[in-house]
Amino acid sequence: MQFEERESKTILITGAGRGMGYATAKHLQAQGHDLVLTARTEESFQRIKKDFPDALHFKVDLTNDEDLNSFLTRLKSKVKKLDVLINNAGEFVESAFAESTLADFDRMYKLDVRAPFMVTKEAVPLLRKANAPIVINMSSVAAVGQYPKVAAYSAAKAALTKITEVARKDLEEDGIRFTVIHPHQVNTWNDKQGDRMLRPDDIAELIGFIINTHPNCQVLRVDVSSIKPVRQE
Ligand SMILES: NC(=O)c1ccc[n+]([C@@H]2O[C@H](COP(=O)([O-])OP(=O)(O)OC[C@H]3O[C@@H](n4cnc5c(N)ncnc54)[C@H](OP(=O)(O)O)[C@@H]3O)[C@@H](O)[C@H]2O)c1
Repeated sequence: MQFEERESKTILITGAGRGMGYATAKHLQAQGHDLVLTARTEESFQRIKKDFPDALHFKVDLTNDEDLNSFLTRLKSKVKKLDVLINNAGEFVESAFAESTLADFDRMYKLDVRAPFMVTKEAVPLLRKANAPIVINMSSVAAVGQYPKVAAYSAAKAALTKITEVARKDLEEDGIRFTVIHPHQVNTWNDKQGDRMLRPDDIAELIGFIINTHPNCQVLRVDVSSIKPVRQE
């Protein structure tokens, strides 16, 4: 049995309406945790309200400053303590370097770097109130490897990985643990070669393990891949 397996935690997951965020919310709901979930689109928002009726639900576009600030204000008025923050929302745009656009670059930086930076910073007072707080940042293998056609995405995820490492140092005296995950090819879009890829549930189960480790145990970084990933040209 893992440490504190039965203790209910308050867990915020951004981008919980589909993909890995949804799978993680399902997994953690089954473990009996209290969930705080965000979605951007109306479709995802309705899904989290229906499938996680006991959770707190927020509709927020994390790239929009007004929306982001309003979300953070509402979050702090409704949640008094946060055990786990999972910065999951992200956007992947593939484009050959010469054809890439500044608009895509800026949007990915806003969502994959600026938003987790702000959400984490504002959540620190809530995390400090928890017994064994953890922040999990969903980066990508693109942050550490070299893949074609993803310069802006890779740069944004590398920035998120670096923020994780430095925030960990700054907040270690507060007992806030930081984990960065670098997944490679998770089938969140029903790919026809999906059986060669990771399942969203693999990431959900990994997160379930990380949040149940002993408060003195810090999982720094997880690089995770299927055993036969789809070849990238
Ligand atoms: N899938 C992979 O192979 C893979 C590999 C490495 C890393 N990752 C990273 O893992 C995370 C989850 O990936 P995924 O494949 O599960 O993603 P996904 O299925 O594409 O879903 C993206 C999630 O991000 C949310 N989102 C997108 N733009 C947003 C915005 N402007 N404001 C707020 N939320 C926004 C979406 O909300 P709505 O549903 O409301 O649109 C959705 O919940 C991402 O950070 C991704 O970069 C994925």
